[in-house]
Amino acid sequence: MTTPKITVIGSINMDLVTRSPRFPQVGETLLGSGFQRFMGGKGANQAVAAARLGAEVQMIGAIGEDDFGRELLANLQHEGVNTEAVKVLPALPSGIANITVAEGDNHIIVVSGANFGITPADIEAEEARIAAADIVLCQLEIPMDCVLAAARLAKKHARPFVLNPAPAQALPAELRSLVSVLTPNAYELALSLGLPTDTPVETLIRQSGCQVVMTLGSDGALYNDDTGILHRQSTFKVNPVDTTGAGDTFLAVMLASAILRGVEPDALALAHASRAAAITVSRRGTLSAFPDGHELTALLAVNGAR
Ligand code: RIB
Repeated sequence: MTTPKITVIGSINMDLVTRSPRFPQVGETLLGSGFQRFMGGKGANQAVAAARLGAEVQMIGAIGEDDFGRELLANLQHEGVNTEAVKVLPALPSGIANITVAEGDNHIIVVSGANFGITPADIEAEEARIAAADIVLCQLEIPMDCVLAAARLAKKHARPFVLNPAPAQALPAELRSLVSVLTPNAYELALSLGLPTDTPVETLIRQSGCQVVMTLGSDGALYNDDTGILHRQSTFKVNPVDTTGAGDTFLAVMLASAILRGVEPDALALAHASRAAAITVSRRGTLSAFPDGHELTALLAVNGAR
């Protein structure tokens, strides 16, 4: 069995999570029901989920020279992620995400700190880690010129470039032309393409010009195969406790399932991903809610990906 090699270029945050019976109105003060902190950041989440699946994961990113940064770095290493390309930037604080969880959903405000201190030159210095990957994976919680630098290097070395375009924003035309697989929700895809947010999802996917795996929350996911035909994957129904990071688990599991079988993301990869996301939303926290290595191995054994 091959070991997938995934290079993740992205954010590393400390998630500061407040639980509340409901979301506050503007200007309202509410008494919350709990507070915890977890390792997070879309980049780190996807890196750890992939590592728990047995992938060889290289993380390229940045933290501050502070307590959060040290804790985040130690956690990534504990999870088996290679952190040699994680820079420590003394002049900036580590990234944080202020998260409110209520009514089975969340609100997130990210303060990027060191995540926005990395430069295209830092990415270019890690060319060998990009060249050696089966898949290069990025999100949009680092500067756009760094995402573009990573995409150019992936293209140079003919490595598939997978972009999770979150948080939502318009993508430069060059970046769109370099993406192999885009993994947005409907809102993110509309913004990525510069189209109105009420554009039908089928139209958005057809206009994307690449493979799209669109997550639809509790309605599952939609994807186009290489002939352009759209397929829908339904989700596993659970009572959501905390949806934070479910999209990150979904993405990492989908990619690992596909790489392990040497295929493009397909119905089975989405089924595996959907099971993993269902486990994540049924638990509290970010990485602490992700399936562990044993659960993931069992999950991928369904229909023989492992
Ligand atoms: O996708 C969830 C993640 O988004 C959280 O871990 C938070 O840090 C933000 O980056």
